[in-house]
Amino acid sequence: MDRLFVTGGARLDGIVRVAGAKNSALKLMAASLMAPGRSTVRNVPRISDCAVMAEMLEHFGVEVIQEGDTFALDASDVVDVEAPHELVRAMRASIVVLGPLLARCGRARVSLPGGDEIGARPVDLHVRGLERMGATVGAEHGFLVAEAARLRGAPITLDYPSVTATENLLMAAVLAKGTTVIDNAAREPEIADLAMFLTSMGARIAGAGSSTIEIDGVDALEPADHTTLPDRIEAGTWAAAAVATRGDVTVSNAVPEHLELLLSKLSDAGAAVSFGDDGLRIRQEGRVRAMDFVTLPYPGIATDFQPILMAMLATADGTSIATENVFEARFLYVGELLRMGADIRTEGHHAVIRGVERLSAAPVRALDIRAGAAMVIAGLCAEGVTEVADMQHVDRGYEDFEAKLERLGAEVRRERELVTLP
Ligand code: EPZ
Repeated sequence: MDRLFVTGGARLDGIVRVAGAKNSALKLMAASLMAPGRSTVRNVPRISDCAVMAEMLEHFGVEVIQEGDTFALDASDVVDVEAPHELVRAMRASIVVLGPLLARCGRARVSLPGGDEIGARPVDLHVRGLERMGATVGAEHGFLVAEAARLRGAPITLDYPSVTATENLLMAAVLAKGTTVIDNAAREPEIADLAMFLTSMGARIAGAGSSTIEIDGVDALEPADHTTLPDRIEAGTWAAAAVATRGDVTVSNAVPEHLELLLSKLSDAGAAVSFGDDGLRIRQEGRVRAMDFVTLPYPGIATDFQPILMAMLATADGTSIATENVFEARFLYVGELLRMGADIRTEGHHAVIRGVERLSAAPVRALDIRAGAAMVIAGLCAEGVTEVADMQHVDRGYEDFEAKLERLGAEVRRERELVTLP
């Protein structure tokens, strides 16, 4: 329940290195369940979501050894296939243990994640895909219970290119009997990263990263060693923060190809974007220029950038229109920006952002990971000291967030709040 106090007016300046991708590392760790023996996942971000995944794996019987950002995961003995409610509630992405457990053990019992601040987040596409592969999947007492002596390869067309549904079905198909083709699959770079790890474990996969993935099932996998790709969402967060604060930031260890559309939007907003030996450099001289954007599955602008871009455009010169096409309720945090004097109207999937000269500091809350980062960026652009509460959300997705901010010249102070347990 920590709070971060953010002093407004800083122009971010310097070099910041992005960590490994949360939305890949979580799935790589879950995939270790599929091979008896010790797998190694490197460049894992030191964030609370990965700590929850480690706890989840230990709960199943995996021996977890962490050294810095490297996890050795020995899944020789999977003794339990139930993902408990308290862990799934702490991290919805736990749903990605469903495919690996079912494929490896023939049974999985995973607490239903339920909705959150950004939408209802159903898992019907996961369930339907597994049923296509011959699993019986039922819901009982808030749990998804899936069973299959051995999954069968099948053609699966997703109604929507869901990221974790694609990942769950990909992992399930790797140990299925026969060939699975996932059509309208998600194309996010994290999926290709997962497929690379699975292939090094002995899986046979073609087309990961495209909208059609073909998997020839194998009887067993071997443990393997993999380094998580850099976090494009963290990289994009620093890039947009540089623009919002009229700063000059070099983001090192980022993969520019994964950020193409975002970078071109930042150029529309007035940023000078260049690539050098140190990394991706973002410089903003004058006031941010208004621009319109829409969120879409990859390679479109990621929905995770939406709150961050909105905070950047809140002080732009002119009116911008944002369209959220991925999550139906991802404007809830806008109320917090209005508290800081932003002029934003939302209507269904659209938001109209009339840029104001300056935001004013106010106590606000981080409603989720990305909305939390957006509040901190808004605080950097505000007059006075903004108090951002519920920083535990930001800690779920950003490694060393305020240390990196300080290295870029921001003035921030964290106030830890001790929670007294009953
Ligand atoms: C992943 O969530 C990411 N999380 C999210 O990042 C990211 O916002 C999202 O993909 C979209 O890019 C992880 O990888 C852990 P989806 P996921 O399934 O897989 C609907 C962050 O901040 N849908 O692609 O849960 C769904 O309701 C997080 O790091 C169904 O209808 O997202 C949504 O409208 C937030 N039925 C759309 O698809 C299903 O069975 C996209 O969701 C599954 C999804």
